[in-house]
Amino acid sequence: MTPNSEERFDGGSAPVTVLSDDLLAEHVVEDPHSYFSHLRETSPVHWNKAFRAWVVTRHADCLAVLKSPNFAADTVSPYFENRLSEREQTKWRPLFDVLRTWIVFKDPPDHARLRGLMRGAFTPRVVEAIRPAVQRMASTLLPAGEGRHEVNLIEEFAFPLPAWVISSMVGVHQEDLWLVSEWSKDIVEVAQGSLGSGDRRQRAQTAMLEFREYLRPIVEDRRRNPRDNDLLTELITAETESHQLTVDELLGGAILLLVAGHETTQNLLANCVIALARNPEQYRRLKEDRSLVRGTVEETLRFDGPVKSLLRVAVDEVQIGAVTVAKGDRVLISVAGANRDPRKFNDPDFFDVGRDASAQLTFGQGIHYCLGAPLARLETQEALNLILDRYRSVRLLTDRIEYDPKVIARTPLSVPVEFTS
Ligand code: HEM
Repeated sequence: MTPNSEERFDGGSAPVTVLSDDLLAEHVVEDPHSYFSHLRETSPVHWNKAFRAWVVTRHADCLAVLKSPNFAADTVSPYFENRLSEREQTKWRPLFDVLRTWIVFKDPPDHARLRGLMRGAFTPRVVEAIRPAVQRMASTLLPAGEGRHEVNLIEEFAFPLPAWVISSMVGVHQEDLWLVSEWSKDIVEVAQGSLGSGDRRQRAQTAMLEFREYLRPIVEDRRRNPRDNDLLTELITAETESHQLTVDELLGGAILLLVAGHETTQNLLANCVIALARNPEQYRRLKEDRSLVRGTVEETLRFDGPVKSLLRVAVDEVQIGAVTVAKGDRVLISVAGANRDPRKFNDPDFFDVGRDASAQLTFGQGIHYCLGAPLARLETQEALNLILDRYRSVRLLTDRIEYDPKVIARTPLSVPVEFTS
């Protein structure tokens, strides 16, 4: 037993020893992979008392939950309706009313309606149209010229690139990027997992309402001046022409895209550079063979993706592995655990740019599979190509990277690197 361990029962026949249930313990935040690997091998469907959810860590089980109609993605309504008093519900309704318009929290049949409308905004044409601008933006952010360049990867590159891309696609003015980023941070904290508590919830509610009012005139302007190959124009068309999207859903959808579209991609980009800096032989391999760039992005999603877990609620009594999950139980799908499952990936703890990592689950699976995946891939591939064009090597300027303590996201706080051209 480790100092943090205790006895738990995994629903099988014998008590097993597992690590502490504190998903925000320092060692779990720093190295979630060891934690989830241990769980996967000792208690693959594990009741986490602190988080009040079953934690599922095997690839086959995670995939089955993501694809099963027995699990709902609307984790917000049960929380709102069952865990808040009437007074609290009145107080937090404005926040809840926006969250409930988000496609990520929708279940069939309403999910299919929204998905059909939003999919129109993510056509290959719309995504491809942004490529030249991504290349230009990336090129201005990273230092050029001979020699060594010290770069704060997050502040100078991984944050501004995706934030600028999604903001320009939704019509946000460039000088307001920081504002969008602050609002997003406040909202993400409560949207992931539950409605949060106390101050955090208040900050999220304020941010959500300010964000919505900020977007209203932008939407009105784009309504009068539609553009070709434009994400916001496509959403507005869905609202005005087919009348299947309400104004609230349109504004909520735009907020979701801004929130979902930048921090995840920022972390993918940062985690990719961290993995390459720690594996210089893989960086050299990539430099010699650019056909591996696509696969490298998939391998980063698998090896150390920006999303660690996803949440669902059982709509019926249902079996996962050896465990019977009761109706109403929450399930935390550990995609980080699944992505390192040796039953699915050989030598899973090895970062291998030549591997076929296409079975990774970091964009989810099933009906909620990430709509922005082609955009995130495009941005990360272009960023990586530029780094490879400009630099011979990359080195981390710190031995230890700190991560934001979050259950769902894997967010490195600061990544100082040295690029050598
Ligand atoms: C590396 C970057 C990204 C990662 C890892 C990621 C991950 C995910 C995951 C795991 C889901 C499914 C959530 C669930 O099943 O509960 C999802 C859904 C979604 N993502 Fe992403 N995402 C990324 C980038 C983006 C971008 C750039 C956008 C938009 C610009 C975006 C928009 C969406 C939308 C709209 C959904 C909802 C789809 C639905 O519910 O049907 N994502 N994303």
